[in-house]
Amino acid sequence: MPLKIAVIVGSLRDESFNRRLAKAMVALPEAQGHGFTFADIGALPLYNQDQDADQPQAVRDLKALVTESDGVIFATPEYNRSIPGVLKNAIDHGSRPPGHSCWKGKPAGVIGTSPGKLGTAAAQQHLRNVLAVLDMPTLGLPEAYLQWSDDLLTAQGQFAEGTVGFAGKWMTAFLGYVALHSGKG
Ligand code: FNR
Repeated sequence: MPLKIAVIVGSLRDESFNRRLAKAMVALPEAQGHGFTFADIGALPLYNQDQDADQPQAVRDLKALVTESDGVIFATPEYNRSIPGVLKNAIDHGSRPPGHSCWKGKPAGVIGTSPGKLGTAAAQQHLRNVLAVLDMPTLGLPEAYLQWSDDLLTAQGQFAEGTVGFAGKWMTAFLGYVALHSGKG
């Protein structure tokens, strides 16, 4: 059954490696037939609890996208051994007000890339802690810590030969996990 997946990239920069990674992921043959929508977290204001009773339109848009989705892919950069503030801001917005979180129960997958050798491992572990309290079942294995290099992707933005097999296995595992946890398996 086709699945709807929200994709959240924790970087706002135009040439983000993580956005390029996420785009390559959704272009994989294993992903075809499913629907992937990238959230616009750059449109979100800084979170302010005073707005919980009347959330800004960009927040409503994010929450509607996630609510309508069967699962969520987070593609996170690593900033100072954690997740970027813009990603935490988006997560906090979606979690409010109490009882109206868009995240609860949504199956999640975490990927990330950085030029550093750890490939966002520390950031992904921090993110997993946050997803746990949001009650998001999160794919455990395979983990996807990818060291960015200019030959990770082809000029067309697809995975190069060395990584395409691993990426396909990750996507297959993730989609199976979403099907199981969303009741569409
Ligand atoms: C970084 N970067 C970085 N990389 C890493 O592997 N571990 C880290 O702790 C950090 N810390 C960090 C802090 C800040 C404020 C910035 C701006 C950058 C480098 C980071 O991996 C690199 O800039 C990536 O290109 C960011 O991901 P996007 O924007 O390309 O997706």
